[in-house]
Amino acid sequence: MNSYLFSPISLSDVSIPNRIVVAPMCQYSANEGNATDWHLMHLGQFAVSGVGLIFTEAVGVEMSGRISPGCLALCTDEHEQNLKRVVDFCHDFGNAKMGIQIAHAGRKGSTELPWLGGKPIPSKDLEAGKPMDHLQRLMQQQVGRHLRLLMRMAFLELKPPSWMQQSVQIG
Ligand SMILES: Cc1cc2nc3c(=O)[nH]c(=O)nc-3n(C[C@H](O)[C@H](O)[C@H](O)COP(=O)(O)O)c2cc1C
Repeated sequence: MNSYLFSPISLSDVSIPNRIVVAPMCQYSANEGNATDWHLMHLGQFAVSGVGLIFTEAVGVEMSGRISPGCLALCTDEHEQNLKRVVDFCHDFGNAKMGIQIAHAGRKGSTELPWLGGKPIPSKDLEAGKPMDHLQRLMQQQVGRHLRLLMRMAFLELKPPSWMQQSVQIG
C-alpha cells in the first residue's frame, strides 16, 4: 500500500527518509546550557525508532536568551561538545536528519523553571536602570555571535537557517 507518511521527501537539498517529524520540545534538563544524558535518551529514542526529522528543543544563542535556566544553549565549546555527543548518537544509530531550533527568548528569556513559578530571574543590568546600555551591548555582540554560531553549526554538520545565511555575508 502506498503511504505518504512513510515515503521520502526532499526539503531544499535535504532528503528526509519519511515524513514523521519530532517538533522542538523544551526538556528543562540542561546543565548550565549543556546537553545531558537526558537529551541523549530523549532525542536518541526518536532516532532509533525510525523518525525522519528530529528537532532539538529551543537552543539559546546566549545564556540569558534561554527560556529557562534548564534550557540548552550553544555559545561555548562545552555546549558544542555536549550537543555533538547527542547528534553523533542520533546519526550513528538512526537515519533521521537532525534539525536545531536556534532561539533567543527576548524579554521573556531566562525565566524560572515552570514548576518553580516561571517568574523572571532578576537581571543586574535592568535592575541598575540601564536597559538601553544593555540593549546596545547586545546589538554589538550580534555579529560576533552569529559568526561563532555558524562555526559551531558547521562543526555539528547542521545547516544554518536561511535568515542567517542572508544576514551574515562577509565581503
Ligand atoms: C513539552 C513541550 C515542549 C515544547 N517546547 C518547544 C520548544 O522548545 N520550541 C517550540 O517552538 N515549541 C515547543 N513546543 C511546541 C511543540 O513544538 C509543538 O509545536 C506543539 O506541541 C504542537 O504540535 P502539534 O501541532 O504537532 O500538536 C513544545 C511542546 C511541548 C509539549
